[in-house]
Amino acid sequence: MTNSLALYVHWPFCLSRCPYCDFNSHVRDHIHQSRFGAALLQELKTEAERLGRRRLTSIYFGGGTPSLMCPKTVASLVVAAAKHFHVGEDTEITLEVNPTSAELTRLKDFRVAGVNRISMGIQSLDDDALHYLGRQHSAQDAIAALVLARDLFPRLSIDLIYGRPGQTLSAWRTELRSALAIVADHISLYQLTIEPATKFEALHRQGKLVLPDDDTATALYNATEEECSSMGLASYEISNYAKSGRESRHNLAYWRYLDYSGIGPGAHGRVKVDGILRATRRHRAPEVWADRVEKYGHALTLDDAVTPQDRAREALLMGLRLTEGIDLVSFAERTGHTLRQSVNYSVLQKAIEEAYVILTSDRLVATREGRIRLDALLGRLVV
Ligand SMILES: C[S@@+](CC[C@H](N)C(=O)[O-])C[C@H]1O[C@@H](n2cnc3c(N)ncnc32)[C@H](O)[C@@H]1O
Ligand code: SF4
Repeated sequence: MTNSLALYVHWPFCLSRCPYCDFNSHVRDHIHQSRFGAALLQELKTEAERLGRRRLTSIYFGGGTPSLMCPKTVASLVVAAAKHFHVGEDTEITLEVNPTSAELTRLKDFRVAGVNRISMGIQSLDDDALHYLGRQHSAQDAIAALVLARDLFPRLSIDLIYGRPGQTLSAWRTELRSALAIVADHISLYQLTIEPATKFEALHRQGKLVLPDDDTATALYNATEEECSSMGLASYEISNYAKSGRESRHNLAYWRYLDYSGIGPGAHGRVKVDGILRATRRHRAPEVWADRVEKYGHALTLDDAVTPQDRAREALLMGLRLTEGIDLVSFAERTGHTLRQSVNYSVLQKAIEEAYVILTSDRLVATREGRIRLDALLGRLVV
């Protein structure tokens, strides 16, 4: 539906900083919950005033660690969202949860607040790996949290990180099978990447952290797909696997390049305002963000129309991650450019010949081989 909107709410605080992570997360001795809650409500109100009363397909509380939010804050944001927008029974409301004990006591209250889907950052089911990843929980904590969440929420997903230094194929298969035995309908499986300005980047630079080579990474990816598929979870995006109908509707909005609004520190959005697609971003530093919201009603640092060329580039970058690929009619409507205007055509022809992409009269789809090499492919394909 063209009028629909996905809403992202960013909570920027964590108990500690994981050595691999470059998300906008901050550690504080004390978090002024009521101040940040009030500022989120204000930014939501300001955003709603210019977007109008659209239908919300999803609300996603991400972070940072949004399970550190007071359930009351989550509840008031859900109520406010329902006041400003159309929220129905089918609106997917996800909250990211870390499986530490402090947060588990709040799970029930999050459910009462209206959350109907949990995305839990387990990362691993191996205690040594969890320690290496700097996590604050054990595998046992994670399993207990999952079992509790599975009983409370209609939908549950977990994140795992694989392709860790020294990880063997058979150890990964065993770990993944244990996870799949608990989580039945959706799972996000990320290969470890080295992000700028993280502790892992420093170790990597010094040669103290060695990632699996390309062949091992491919074997791990193939094994991942096999294990998920044997449990009935199809790969619908490069790192995401789900039973049919259980895909993350919120994340699908990003990949299908539909409207999404992001509020909270560092959140970004792509929203149509008066028929023009705009790119929005908000101040990253939590306290500066809150100061600005209190002063101006919002903390936008970017609010620009997206050029047709950028629209096309972004729609390709997002859409080719999906197994379903890109609908060419929607692509042209959304970007104002045809596919032919948006790609280097000789590179596209070659990619078709090499079976990295398939072009039909109505879709452009990256094949499995193409998706494995997507970054390299997009670098050459997109003009
Ligand atoms: C917003 S983050 C974290 C959510 C939550 N705070 C947690 O830690 O569980 C979403 C996910 O991105 C993944 N992730 C973050 N950095 C990564 C990296 N460098 N390589 C691979 N996956 C990463 C993790 O699986 C993480 O759960
Ligand atoms: S992985 Fe999660 S808990 Fe760790 S620093 Fe990033 S956002 Fe925070």
